[in-house]
Amino acid sequence: MNNQPFMNINEIDEVAAVIRARSSYQPKIGLILGSGLGGLADAVEKPDFIPFTDLPHWPQSTVHGHTGRLVIGKLENQDVLVMQGRIHFYEGYSMSQVTLPIRVMQRLGLETLVVTNAAGAIHPDFIPGDLMLITDNLNLVGMMGFNPLIGPNMDELGPRFPDMSQSYDRALNDTARQASRETGIPLREGVYAGLSGPSFESPADLRFLRAVGADAVGMSTVPEVIVARHGGLRVLGISGISNKANLDGNTVTSHEEVLEAGRVMVPKLEQILRSILRKL
Ligand code: HPA
Repeated sequence: MNNQPFMNINEIDEVAAVIRARSSYQPKIGLILGSGLGGLADAVEKPDFIPFTDLPHWPQSTVHGHTGRLVIGKLENQDVLVMQGRIHFYEGYSMSQVTLPIRVMQRLGLETLVVTNAAGAIHPDFIPGDLMLITDNLNLVGMMGFNPLIGPNMDELGPRFPDMSQSYDRALNDTARQASRETGIPLREGVYAGLSGPSFESPADLRFLRAVGADAVGMSTVPEVIVARHGGLRVLGISGISNKANLDGNTVTSHEEVLEAGRVMVPKLEQILRSILRKL
């Protein structure tokens, strides 16, 4: 079934060794760029590029709109490791494979993870182009039995039963709010519901998600955040609202729409992230 293979510590460390051999930067901050948001990697100065295809054990990104490489370099004078393109569960990889990049970041000594994604708006006030600070998430895929921590626990990486009461770091959230005030770029706040995809939601799915407290919905991020928290990384999450979720069944959602909205949001996201990085 889809929940295997489980990656082991040797495989994780093999990947980390390749990255160390290819880049002399020592990033403490990781940044994952969601659908349509990959253009943000262009902001990285003096970059080292490592295509995912050069990394052992690394799942390959198959989705249009996800470039599939690591970009390691300087952003606002900080060493950063950027994932330009991410891996999704719906591509057929196991949860352990999907979250391998987070384990590698942990072994490379990263301390902070900034996750971004494209998401559909469930909150009635949110509109395409909005940025939303993720204050909590619904681990719906995990609740269905696909938690990324299922399998042998690697005790050297984190505890068997990790707490998830504050997945999204409160101090980092405050930093993001401050960045929003300083840049004048509004930041919504809300709960991100993580689904597996790849089909978009039915109107009944969306009414269900609204009823259980979701403000935005997407197909990524939550497994990465769980593994990052298991490994002790601090997490900041920002969703780019790419479309209004279709609660009444009268509009159609497409991947092209998501990518196009992403491109429009990149400059805003870049400004806010630069401001956040200056404060870290
Ligand atoms: N649903 C799920 N995932 C998404 C959406 C959506 O409406 N928009 C962008 N990613």
